[in-house]
Formats: sequence, structure tokens, C-alpha cells
Amino acid sequence: MPYTKIIGTGSYLPPRIVSNDDLAAQLAQDGIETSDQWIMERTGIRQRHIADRGVTTSQIATQAAQAALLDAGLAASDIDLIVVATSTPDFVFPSTACLVQNQLGISGGAAFDVQAVCSGFVYALTTADALIKAGNATKALVIGAEVFSSILDWKDRSTCVLFGDGAGAVVLAASPEPGIMATQLKADGSQNHILCAAGNVAYGEVVGDPFLRMDGQAVFKFAVNALTKSGQEVVAQAGLSMEQVDWLIPHQANVRIINFIGRKLHVPTEKVVITLDQHANTSAASVPLALDAARKDGRVKAGHTVLMQGVGGGFTWGSVLARI
Ligand code: ACO
Repeated sequence: MPYTKIIGTGSYLPPRIVSNDDLAAQLAQDGIETSDQWIMERTGIRQRHIADRGVTTSQIATQAAQAALLDAGLAASDIDLIVVATSTPDFVFPSTACLVQNQLGISGGAAFDVQAVCSGFVYALTTADALIKAGNATKALVIGAEVFSSILDWKDRSTCVLFGDGAGAVVLAASPEPGIMATQLKADGSQNHILCAAGNVAYGEVVGDPFLRMDGQAVFKFAVNALTKSGQEVVAQAGLSMEQVDWLIPHQANVRIINFIGRKLHVPTEKVVITLDQHANTSAASVPLALDAARKDGRVKAGHTVLMQGVGGGFTWGSVLARI
């Protein structure tokens, strides 16, 4: 069959919600000043979900996967490929995807992780699409899942206010009709320093700085330019015009970045899905969480064309155009 189609979506958000006011009060205990007003004006974030200590990425990924399987009307045993996009894996190895496979009670299909930070979901979706089209798999779970709170420096107000935890999943199946219509993945490793968590465990010790660090203004400029060009190219590659795109579902990093991209792509605000206010930036989980929210609230309907875009550390970016 020539296409792959998204036949189900699902989400999981940890139950603990931390509002900007809650966070400001928490940081104030360490003498760090921030406010709901600063966070809202600069980012558009109102609250985030934060996992309790001990909750792992594989656990929340499995919850999202189960919700997506239910939505697709499939059993876990129908799945022969699992790709998990994450920068906060449970372990160095085995992969989070193998842990998810085990928690779903299945074995035998392929399972591996993709690491492209906030672009992870579009990287994972593109990879699964290619494997299905090549005949290597028939039904796939593609999951973006992060416990980003575990790599934040809670004493660095310029980063810790921006992120949240969560997982989003889609079920992909081989299909005679579109489906995923065009994909594009890009990277520029020369920009690795503008967004990184440059620590590792080596020789039994933490080496380097394991916390997320970011040059916010450099990230802002790079993200706007990269996603504008990638969005234009992937829509043209599918032989469509931007007017034929029903929904733009960009990585949820910052509402000002999203608004810039929307304007540059000439996509009106009412066709842009935003969940950032509720979820903050959940890295690889942000696009599948937004897609699931927009499907469940009835905005994204069967037959709609959606442009999903990711951008993040590496630097990496990419776009997937799909008919739902
Ligand atoms: N609360 C209060 N004040 C703060 C906070 C905070 N949480 N964080 C920084 N400030 C202060 C700074 O200390 C600085 O104070 P100063 O002028 O006295 O030195 C002032 O606010 C301005 O700081 P800037 O870093 O210049 O603020 P900027 O306007 O650039 O906004 C932001 C910061 C929101 C991070 C912005 O650069 C941005 O949106 N960048 C995009 C990056 C992004 O969204 N990253 C998400 C992860 S990356 C990804 O997912 C692709």
C-alpha cells in the first residue's frame, strides 16, 4: 500500500498541575524572582503538568500509547513497530521503546528510540512512515514522551519556567489513501551549543552539565526561520498551497515563535493549534499532545490536512504534512 495514515491518537499528562503563580511561589523560596505576568507575556505559558519524582518516561509513554490504541480500535498485539522520541529516556539503554513494548505486554516487533529533542516526534513519525512504506512494518506506535522536569535547573529562571512533562502517541497503519503526504527532516550541528543538556554518565560519574541550557534569543531566531522555510517546502513537495492546509500544529515552545511562523506562512491564527498555555513546552511530546487535543475537541476532523512541525536542540527541525 502506498501510504501510511494516522488512525488513532492518545495523550497522557501527569495529574499535578503547576500554575505560573505556584511556580513563582516555589522559586521565591530559593530567592528567585519570577511572575505569572513575565511568563505569560514572554511565552504564552499559563501552567504545566509536572510528573512526581520517580515517574518515568516509559510509564507515561505507555499510558499515551494505550489511549492511542483504544482510539484506533487496535490491540497492542497488532503493533509491529514502536518508535519513541525522547530526550529524557529512562536509561542509557535499553531504549524507552523496548520498555514501552514490555509494558504493553508484547514482543517481537521492532522498537527503538529517536533523539532529536523537540523535533523528535516529526523525526520519529518520518522514520515510521518510511519503514511502513518500505514494507518493514504494518502498524506502528509513534510516541513523543518526556519527563523534562528531571533535566531542568530549578534555580535557572530563564529555562525552568518554560517546560512541562507529558506524552502523546499516534497509531500509524499502511493505507491505500493518504495519509502522510510529505516529510522533511533537517539538522545543523554547528548550532549544538544554543540548546543543550551537555552532561553524561561516564566512568560511573556525571560528566559535564546535565541540566538544560539555552541561548533563548538565538533559539528564537533560528526556530522562526527554519520552520518557515521547512513549512513552505513540505507543502510545495505535496503539490498543495498553504491555503489547503487546514491546521498548523507547530512545536509548542513559545507563543511568540508560533505567531511569527503563522504570519510568515500566511496561516491565520484560527487555523493554528495552541496547547502551550496548558502544557508549556513538552519537547518531543508537544506536537502529538496538540494533535490529540485538537482531534478530541473536534477541531481536526477526518479529511483535514495538518502541517506538523518540530524544532529543537541539535539544532534539528522538520515538518510532516498529513491528511487525517
Ligand atoms: N522571570 C522573570 N524575569 C526573567 C525570567 C523569568 N522567568 N527569565 C529571564 N528573566 C529576565 C532576565 O534575567 C533578563 O533580565 P535583565 O534584563 O535584568 O538582564 C530579562 O528577563 C530579559 O531576559 P531575556 O533572556 O533577554 O528575555 P527574552 O525576552 O529573550 O525572553 C525567552 C526569554 C522567553 C526564553 C525568549 O528568549 C524566547 O522565547 N526564546 C525562545 C526560546 C524558547 O522558546 N525555547 C524553548 C525551548 S527551545 C525549543 O523548544 C525549540
